[in-house]
Amino acid sequence: MTYLGIDVGTSGVKAMLIDREGRPIGEATAKAMEPVRPQPGWSEQRPIDWWTATLEAADRLAKDYPKEMAAVRGIGLSGHMHGATLLDREDKVLRPCILWNDGRSAAECAEMEAEMPRLRDIAGNIAMPGFTAPKLAWVRKHEPEIFERIAKVLLPKAYVRLLLTGEYVEDMSDAAGTLWLDVGKRDWSDELLALTGLTREQMPRLVEGSERSAALKPEFVNRWGMSGEVVVAGGAGDNAAAACGIGAIRPGEGFVSLGTSGVLFVSNDRFRPNTEGAVHAFCHAIPDTWHQMGVILSATDSLNWLSRVTGQTPQELSAAAEARFTGPREEIFLPYLSGERTPHNNAAARGSFIGLSHLSDATLMAQAVMEGVSYAFRDCQRVLKDAGTEIGQLLAVGGGSKSTLWLKMLAANLNCEILLPEDGDYGGALGVARLGLCAAERVSPEEVMTMPGIAKVITPDAALIETYSEHYARYRALYPAIEETRT
Ligand code: XUL
Repeated sequence: MTYLGIDVGTSGVKAMLIDREGRPIGEATAKAMEPVRPQPGWSEQRPIDWWTATLEAADRLAKDYPKEMAAVRGIGLSGHMHGATLLDREDKVLRPCILWNDGRSAAECAEMEAEMPRLRDIAGNIAMPGFTAPKLAWVRKHEPEIFERIAKVLLPKAYVRLLLTGEYVEDMSDAAGTLWLDVGKRDWSDELLALTGLTREQMPRLVEGSERSAALKPEFVNRWGMSGEVVVAGGAGDNAAAACGIGAIRPGEGFVSLGTSGVLFVSNDRFRPNTEGAVHAFCHAIPDTWHQMGVILSATDSLNWLSRVTGQTPQELSAAAEARFTGPREEIFLPYLSGERTPHNNAAARGSFIGLSHLSDATLMAQAVMEGVSYAFRDCQRVLKDAGTEIGQLLAVGGGSKSTLWLKMLAANLNCEILLPEDGDYGGALGVARLGLCAAERVSPEEVMTMPGIAKVITPDAALIETYSEHYARYRALYPAIEETRT
């Protein structure tokens, strides 16, 4: 028997087959169209692109692994979170999806919080423009003729599920990022929905990530050479899915993701909000489990930006920084190129370089960028700690984790061990393939969600811990000072 994970990412879809022991058998990817930015700070994508890429990736797997694909009994779906996919009564998409990194709804966030002071208590989160509900408040105000026609609001992977199964269903971890969920109760909040003029009827049905959500339509069972009933699990938002892929489901287990955006993720045995620090407190994809996240919007994307400015690749920049590294220097970088979520919740924040001199060349600036991102993660750790969370060790994932220097900076700043998994893919596709296994075979998540082998352990360097503490204090003082000059 085999199980299939489908991860609908912003830049493409990855499909992965695993065996009954949860080991990867094969994978296929298909690119989606990059998001478009019709105005600065906006970010949109056409839902049909996710669907085309999903079919392309799954068709390729069926071609390359026909026997294994025919043996699929369970499917799990993962997706980029928060995106607002608006459907009419005929399931027709009403407008391009407004994505997780779209900052247009800052005014609506302020209005929602003013109108409903209890919002943070129920949702466990601040109204941030990245989340789904404020996007709907924006549509209601600016595109009322579209708002009137909304029959269902789905997140990206729930839209793909609708096309695969014909059913409207969402899992708890992704639903928690809408700002319509009572995260502690794991149910839609009628009060929060009413705040944006919506009702429960316009929401998908809720299931746990490891539970059955629906069955694959016969046309796809046939198309991919499968047989019998193929169960589709609830699945997970991409971060909870990644946690399932690296086995971070027990309290205190977590990861630091150095991807385009950066995520510090920790599993919790109960709902632990800290809205003051803009911590994301969401449901995990496993029953009775929650998680916290600090989310920074430009992690490796900060190095990508420096790469565009200098004409050197991010790999060249980080390798040069590593070769010359002797410890922190004068240059300090604030990585708020697309605003910031944790801890500032400020879509209008912008990046800064401070402490430049004639010696500041591309290499030293690259070091400062990597350090600035590490300080931003340190900010996330600080606010998670304020919510009572202690971090013992973290697995490192994402493209930036290939840089040993970056991991060293993180270990010293977070003052914890950073574990680098053995080569392999432990992302969202693996995580939700495992959820597909749980739902199809009714096995417990604890049995399936194992940790990968560890290739390297980076322990914090005592001298660096000390110097970084001083530099971090300077970094923290800069944001309020700079913001004062901008307002
Ligand atoms: C999490 C978030 C991102 C997206 C992107 O809150 O916005 O991690 O899920 O994939």
